[in-house]
Amino acid sequence: MWVIGIESSCDETGVALVEAGASGLPRLAAHALHSQIAMHQAYGGVVPELASRDHIRRVLPLAQTVLDEAGRRLAEIDVVAYTRGPGLAGALLVGAGVACALGAALGRPVLGVHHLEGHLLSPFLSADPPEFPFVALLVSGGHTQLMRVEGVGHYEILGETIDDAAGEAFDKSAKLMGLPYPGGPWLAKLAQQGDAAAFKLPRPLLHSGDLDFSFAGLKTAVLTQAKRLGGELEARKADLAASTQAAIVEVLLKKSLAALEATGLRRLVVAGGVGANQALRDQLNAACARRGVRVHYPELHLCTDNGAMIAMAAAMRLQSGIESANVDYAFDVKPRWPLDSLAGAGARD
Ligand code: KG4
Ligand code: ZN
Repeated sequence: MWVIGIESSCDETGVALVEAGASGLPRLAAHALHSQIAMHQAYGGVVPELASRDHIRRVLPLAQTVLDEAGRRLAEIDVVAYTRGPGLAGALLVGAGVACALGAALGRPVLGVHHLEGHLLSPFLSADPPEFPFVALLVSGGHTQLMRVEGVGHYEILGETIDDAAGEAFDKSAKLMGLPYPGGPWLAKLAQQGDAAAFKLPRPLLHSGDLDFSFAGLKTAVLTQAKRLGGELEARKADLAASTQAAIVEVLLKKSLAALEATGLRRLVVAGGVGANQALRDQLNAACARRGVRVHYPELHLCTDNGAMIAMAAAMRLQSGIESANVDYAFDVKPRWPLDSLAGAGARD
């Protein structure tokens, strides 16, 4: 079974082709990505209308690239998968429209995929795939969640952010320091030259006793610190970046360890854009090694948005039998869509 996946929820157009058997892990045959970062950089953030228009320009050429790379023809596609949400409505509509038109033209079923489920299952594309069950730390630009994952479609939210996501904390703090959008990778790079102990920044909800997160206060503390530094900010930027990263990473680390303890599980999966952060990976690896916990990540280039994770999630849902692709080609998108409302998912009590 050949599944093509189309991702267009935000500022990356991604297309990929995955081959899946009746059982066993699906295999990535080819994937192609166009990032709009350079286009949005001038505005300091994503401009939704520009994002939609660029997805329209990119999606078909990317699909052709993927087919060429895999040596397949359009007619060989068995299922067309697309990101149904969450994300920017107009951007999602581009992927959904193209996917359903493709499905209708080919007479093949289509399947709308949850973007976060894509992130969550993306480590199954790595050379060291996890096994169920596991604790998942999902850290993207819009979401920060800890989950207990029993199997495909069985996601119980253990804790989540009550305000900003970890990626947002990186991005907003970076913006305050005058770094380009999206700030996460820039802040991480600058942090390498800084002293993480230089500034005392809050670790929100670190001792709250639950598994929820809050990062809005941290951003305010960074702003206060930046104002206090005034003209000295430029010279101390690396120290402030290192201190900010240390605060975010410590909270993510401690809460992940608490989730492992609470569930008794010995496997952790980290997914989403912030999962690319090396300081986070180093600290999680060290702490988990001491506890005999295995940690799994997506390949670095599949941490941020891509089509491979969408094709993979669709293939795994179909394989597990919790979903059948539909052939009526009527589509909607879900700009807001809680992951634990998915069919087969466990709900938070
Ligand atoms: O998962 P993703 O590509 O998009 C969403 O679904 O939101 O995540 C994007 C987020 C951005 O906030 C970006 O700054 C952050 O991931 N990010 C990083 C790093 N690479 C990407 N944050 C910290 N360190 C990084 N190396
Ligand atoms: Zn994402």
